[in-house]
Amino acid sequence: MSNPVVLIAEELSPATVDALGPDFEIRHCNGADRAELLSAITDVDAILIRSATKVDAEAVAAASKLKVVARAGVGLDNVDVSAATKAGVMVVNAPTSNIVTAAELACGLLISVARNIAPANAALKQGEWKRNKYTGVELAEKTLGVVGLGRIGALVAQRMSAFGMKIVAYDPYIQPARAAQMGVKILSLDELLQVSDFITVHLPKTPETVGLIGEEALRKVKPHVRIVNAARGGIVDEEALFAALKEGRIGGAGLDVYAKEPCTDSPLFQFDNVVATPHLGASTDEAQEKAGISVARSVRLALAGELVPDA
Ligand code: MLT
Repeated sequence: MSNPVVLIAEELSPATVDALGPDFEIRHCNGADRAELLSAITDVDAILIRSATKVDAEAVAAASKLKVVARAGVGLDNVDVSAATKAGVMVVNAPTSNIVTAAELACGLLISVARNIAPANAALKQGEWKRNKYTGVELAEKTLGVVGLGRIGALVAQRMSAFGMKIVAYDPYIQPARAAQMGVKILSLDELLQVSDFITVHLPKTPETVGLIGEEALRKVKPHVRIVNAARGGIVDEEALFAALKEGRIGGAGLDVYAKEPCTDSPLFQFDNVVATPHLGASTDEAQEKAGISVARSVRLALAGELVPDA
């Protein structure tokens, strides 16, 4: 009998293949290339992805032998879980693999946007020594509004409170006792928008969260607020953010995610006070290794017909 086929559709840590072991035929494809994906997926037993591969109803329908979709990361917004479930395909992810890594990037964007690290770095490398132009603001004593106090948001809150920031959060699902334990004050979204000097978003992408920080929200913020989105593109509406930056209604933004990815040409990139990275939230050696090993283990169990424990 031939070995089950595992399709690796994105670049994953080498630890992934090691953790799968010798019992599988491993194939590779570029999952971001739709035609390549639809042809490669037809006869595989499992597919391993990150965020660039869309396993939607069409891809599920094209995959007659598919038993597992494994997402080496936190979110599942690029997988049609209901189409997969209807087709009897199990969907697994690695929900804790990169939470520290994602939180650290959000903190990095926050610090960078407060202190103009990215534009000052770019200018200096162009031979410009402009100390006044890149004067920033302190984080200590400022209020950080965390929108979504889940696993990643809580880690950001913990880390930024070490900088002396006052932390408030909007999260309709958090237990008040848990927030109090973290020293975080829970507010309504409107209240958070009004009092925050910095805002960082840590929500999954759902129909409810897309555009949550949009035109209306950006009219309620403090004039110098700096906004970080290292969660999912579109939760902070890009057009509304552009207008707020253009009109000088906000102080800056740190962005790691975009409504459409890859995003190499955004009107937002023209602003010196926008720090932009290419969806690096999960990209550290440590997180990729953890995610790869975790999904490899789940795929092994699922293809062996065994129970896959919640990670
Ligand atoms: C995640 O959801 O964990 C990340 O977006 C994964 C990735 O970077 O591909």
